[in-house]
Amino acid sequence: MLGGIYFFLPFLALSGLINSELTGVLDDCFCDVESIDVFNNLKIYPRVRKLTERAYFRYYRVNLKRPCPFWPDDGHCAIKDCHVEPCPESKIPVGIKSGNYNKYSQAANTMSECEQAKELGAINSTLSNKSKEAFADWARHDDAQDHFCELDDETSPDAEYVDLLLNPERFTGYKGPSAWRVWNSIYEENCFKPRSVYRPLNPLAPSRGDDDGEGFYKWLEGLCLEKRVFYRLISGLHSSINIHLCAEYLLDEGWGRSVWGPNIREFRQRFDTAETKGEGTRRLKNLYFLYLIELRALYKVAPYFERAFVNLYTGNAREDGATKDLLLQIFNEIKAFPMHFDEKSMFAGHKIEAKTLKEEFRLHFKNISKIMDCVGCSKCRLWGKLQTQGLGTALKILFSEKEIKNLPEHSPSKGFQLTRQEIVALLNGFGRLSTSIYQLHNFRQLLKENR
Ligand SMILES: *[C@@H]1O[C@H](CO)[C@@H](O)[C@H](O)[C@H]1NC(C)=O
Ligand SMILES: *[C@@H]1O[C@H](CO)[C@@H](O)[C@H](O)[C@H]1NC(C)=O
Ligand SMILES: *[C@@H]1O[C@H](CO)[C@@H](O)[C@H](O)[C@H]1NC(C)=O
Repeated sequence: MLGGIYFFLPFLALSGLINSELTGVLDDCFCDVESIDVFNNLKIYPRVRKLTERAYFRYYRVNLKRPCPFWPDDGHCAIKDCHVEPCPESKIPVGIKSGNYNKYSQAANTMSECEQAKELGAINSTLSNKSKEAFADWARHDDAQDHFCELDDETSPDAEYVDLLLNPERFTGYKGPSAWRVWNSIYEENCFKPRSVYRPLNPLAPSRGDDDGEGFYKWLEGLCLEKRVFYRLISGLHSSINIHLCAEYLLDEGWGRSVWGPNIREFRQRFDTAETKGEGTRRLKNLYFLYLIELRALYKVAPYFERAFVNLYTGNAREDGATKDLLLQIFNEIKAFPMHFDEKSMFAGHKIEAKTLKEEFRLHFKNISKIMDCVGCSKCRLWGKLQTQGLGTALKILFSEKEIKNLPEHSPSKGFQLTRQEIVALLNGFGRLSTSIYQLHNFRQLLKENR
C-alpha cells in the first residue's frame, strides 16, 4: 500500500541481523545492508564526526527548562537534574548490576542507582567566555535572516547553548516507569487524524451520511494515515538511542576514573532475535529505514546549502569556509550513493496534498518535542530533543521539494529557509544515526568473537 518505502525491509528481516551472518541482497532497490554499512562506515561516518566537532555544529541552542505539559504529577520535581524515578536505597549498586563484579569500585559501594543516574544525566553547561561572546554575534547574524518558522525553544529566554561535545549521549541510568511513559506517549502520537478529512469517530453520528457499514470501516482504516511510516521512524529513533546507550555504557567507575564501552549483554537484551522474540530485528530494520530517510532529506536539501552566499556563520571566515567545505563533501558522497528511494511513494496511496501532510507532520513533531520536556534526565532530554528536531527537519525538507527547487539563486532571504537550530539538529541527528550504524558493526564483531 505504501509502495516503495518497504522495498528493502523484508530482506533485512531475512538476514537476521544479529544471530546469523548479515547478508542482504536487496534486489528491488539495488541495496543491501553491506553497501549501506560500507558507505556509511567508510564515507559518511568519519566526515560527519568531524563536522559535528566544528564550532557551528557543536553548540546547540535548546530550552531544557520547559515544564512537562502532560503529566502534572511530576511537577514537584522541578530541579533540573532531578526526577529520575525514586528508588529504595537497597537497590543493587550499579557497579554490580552492570555485570561488572568489581566490588571495590567506589561508585558501586557508595552511590545508589538513583544518585548515580542523577549525576550521569546532568548537563555540563561549561562554556568558555569566548564562546559566550560569539553567541551574541551569532544571534545578531541569525536575527538578520528571514526564517519562515520558528520553534518555541528558539525564542525562549530560557534557551541556552549547550556544548554537545561536553555532553556525549551515553548511558545515564535513566529508565523505569518514567522513561517508559515518555516513549509510550511518543508511540501514541503515531496516528494521524488529518483535519482535512475530519469526521466523527462514532459510527452512529449523523454525519456518516449514506455510507454502508463497510465503507465506513474502510474509511476508518484509512484514518490513521501514515501510521506505519511514522511508527517506523519513531522506532528507528528509539533503536538508535538504545544503541548509543549500549555502546557507551558505564562499565566501571572507581578511583575517579570512568570506563565507558560496549555492553553486549544490554545490547542482546534489546536486539537479539531470540531474546526479543524477533522484535530486535524489526527495531534494527527501522533504524536502517530512518537512516535512508534522513539521507534522502540531505540529498534533497543540498541545493539550499550549495548556493555561494549560504555560510555556516561563526564569524571566523576561515573556520566557516572549512566547515562548509566539509558539509559539501558529505553532500557529494550522498549524491554518489545509488541507493536512494523515492519518498513520493511514501504517501502515494493518499490524495492529501504535500502541504497538508507537511503541516500534520510538523504538528506531531511539535508535540513530540513537548513530550521530550517530560524526560526526567537532562542529558537524555537534550539528545531526545535534538534528534526529534533533526528528524522533524528532515521531514520538513522532504515535504518542501518544490520550494527547494524554486529557490531564488541570488536572494538569500526568499523561499525555503532553515534556522541555525534546525541545521545543527539535522546534521547532528543524522550524525547519531550514522554513529549507530557504525556501532552496530562493532557489536556484530563482538558477538561473533563471543560466540
Ligand atoms: C565540564 O567540562 C569541563 C571541560 O571538560 C570540565 O573541566 C568540568 O569539570 C566539567 N564539569 C562537570 C560538572 O562535570
Ligand atoms: C569569564 O567572564 C566572567 C564574567 O564576565 C569572569 O568573571 C571570568 O573571570 C571570565 N573567565 C575567564 C576564564 O576569563
Ligand atoms: C500530544 O501528546 C500528549 C501526550 O501523549 C497527548 O495527550 C495529546 O493529546 C497530544 N496532542 C496532540 C495535539 O496531538
